[in-house]
Amino acid sequence: MPPRPPSPVPDFLYGTAWKEDRTAALVELAVRGGFRGIDTANQRRHYFEEGVGEGLAAAYRTGVVSRHDLFLQTKFTYERGQDHRLPYDPAAALSVQVAQSMASSLDLLGTDYVDSYLLHGPASNHDWTDDDAQVWEAMRRERDAGRTRLLGVSNISLGQLQELASVHTELPAFVQNRCYARLGWDREVRQFCRERNLIYQGFSLLTANKGVLRDPLIASIAASANATPAQVVFSFARAVGILPLTGTSDAAHMRADLDGRDLALPPEAVDEIESLAG
Ligand SMILES: NC(=O)c1ccc[n+]([C@@H]2O[C@H](COP(=O)([O-])OP(=O)(O)OC[C@H]3O[C@@H](n4cnc5c(N)ncnc54)[C@H](OP(=O)(O)O)[C@@H]3O)[C@@H](O)[C@H]2O)c1
Repeated sequence: MPPRPPSPVPDFLYGTAWKEDRTAALVELAVRGGFRGIDTANQRRHYFEEGVGEGLAAAYRTGVVSRHDLFLQTKFTYERGQDHRLPYDPAAALSVQVAQSMASSLDLLGTDYVDSYLLHGPASNHDWTDDDAQVWEAMRRERDAGRTRLLGVSNISLGQLQELASVHTELPAFVQNRCYARLGWDREVRQFCRERNLIYQGFSLLTANKGVLRDPLIASIAASANATPAQVVFSFARAVGILPLTGTSDAAHMRADLDGRDLALPPEAVDEIESLAG
């Protein structure tokens, strides 16, 4: 299959978790508002991927965007992270589960390829297991068949990434992790990514760091920049190489998050925020 035309990785991803029957309307609003990256998962427990597809279809109908303007990212989730609404036969081999989950995602999203396909999380909390190796190879086959442009892993530790790198010839293009300020904003994993040119995607930048958002340092940087604390955190994230996700359900917050992309923080403010809590 010929390679897909390159579609750039956007500088913000709109996350679709926990939106249930508001998913379609919020995805349409996000795309119409200017988001070009959408993050979802074929995990009905937390995401409504069918609703994402409906929202995209509605956005296409308005003519604001077409499929090729967007960066669509979805995930393969092991059975242990799912509820009873599985997108695959749990008795099938893992490689078949990956193929079935991908086929279901493409159907739900109304497309014949996604831009990024993530392993939602390794099978174990500690190691990169044989199951993960099988799934990773199956994901590579999906990519080679043209059903995703890029691959990634999520909810992964530095040790697991190192194991992955020792077992496989191909590293992920993306790592998507919850980003705790008290862990230096996932400093070790970010360093691993930086050294190997992987793109680090950070989620829960606001919700995992509520104390930081209230910190006087953030308040003072926000006041000097005429910005909100949330805009400061997202701008900080970009300054240290984090591709941020936002999952707001609020139109004004969507607007503020997008407008904040123009905010460039002074280098000393970036350094102070990086070591604020860990
Ligand atoms: N890989 C994984 O395992 C994983 C896990 C969790 C999340 N994710 C992805 O990451 C996405 C984002 O999730 P998240 O955990 O970062 O948090 P989130 O679900 O986006 O929650 C953000 C919270 O902060 C509030 N908020 C206040 N001001 C905001 C602002 N200016 N911008 C954005 N939110 C603001 C939001 O309220 P309002 O709605 O009122 O704005 C919301 O309650 C998810 O939708 C999902 O796609 C991935």
